[in-house]
Amino acid sequence: MSRRPYVAANWKMNKTASEADEFLDSFLPSQSADGPEVVLCPPWLALERVAGRCAGTPVRVAAQNMFYEDSGAFTGEVSAPMLLDIGVDGAVLGHSERRQFFGESDESLALKVPKAIEAGLEPILCVGESRAERESNDTEAVLSHQVLTDLAEVHSDDLGKVVIAYEPVWAIGTGLVATPEQAQEACEFIRNLLRTRDSERAGQVRILYGGSVKPDNAGELMALPDIDGALVGGAALDPADFGAIVAASSAG
Ligand code: PGA
Repeated sequence: MSRRPYVAANWKMNKTASEADEFLDSFLPSQSADGPEVVLCPPWLALERVAGRCAGTPVRVAAQNMFYEDSGAFTGEVSAPMLLDIGVDGAVLGHSERRQFFGESDESLALKVPKAIEAGLEPILCVGESRAERESNDTEAVLSHQVLTDLAEVHSDDLGKVVIAYEPVWAIGTGLVATPEQAQEACEFIRNLLRTRDSERAGQVRILYGGSVKPDNAGELMALPDIDGALVGGAALDPADFGAIVAASSAG
């Protein structure tokens, strides 16, 4: 089953709207519709700016989080209708930094993921084990719990609409990259978990690797059978580096 490669830039809490403009000035002209699917995930206050400038280009835009209610007394939160209104296409959900620093739980993700799909936003669900969990051989248990809980309320027919990012927490922002064997093994394990939900649609799900992806390691990771793309943090802040990762992914 062929899956279109998918490369997403997670800018985290970096770039003002004007810095995002500078990135786009340099990055957008290099993007064509026949390459991988490219998604930019700017911080809240650059989101409308980036969505506006990417409209009509092949580049798509996702938020870094989303709440599961449409409106109401939820101070500080942002809803799916608000994102759709400014032209956003998707949302990163369950990034390890949200889980680690902001109390994001699998129970709330079990509401957020189906909400995004129902609203017409593409969820990029992040899962991954910590160093301690890997060292105690709990990687598979952690991935099973996260994937099966977070997708529990997603209808099997909708499974192919989910993008999953496998991001071992110990590889994020550390310069430590999972070996190709570790990355493939975890992504294959995730795909097999999806098969227990729906064997045909499991083959449609794009599974990304994230954690210190750089221009010089992207091609090797992307060539692995169960890895369909990358979620890139640090190296996605620079348009030339991110462009090189996109180019390496088309080749993979
Ligand atoms: P990194 O971040 O590429 O800086 O390791 C990846 C991520 O957190 O999505």
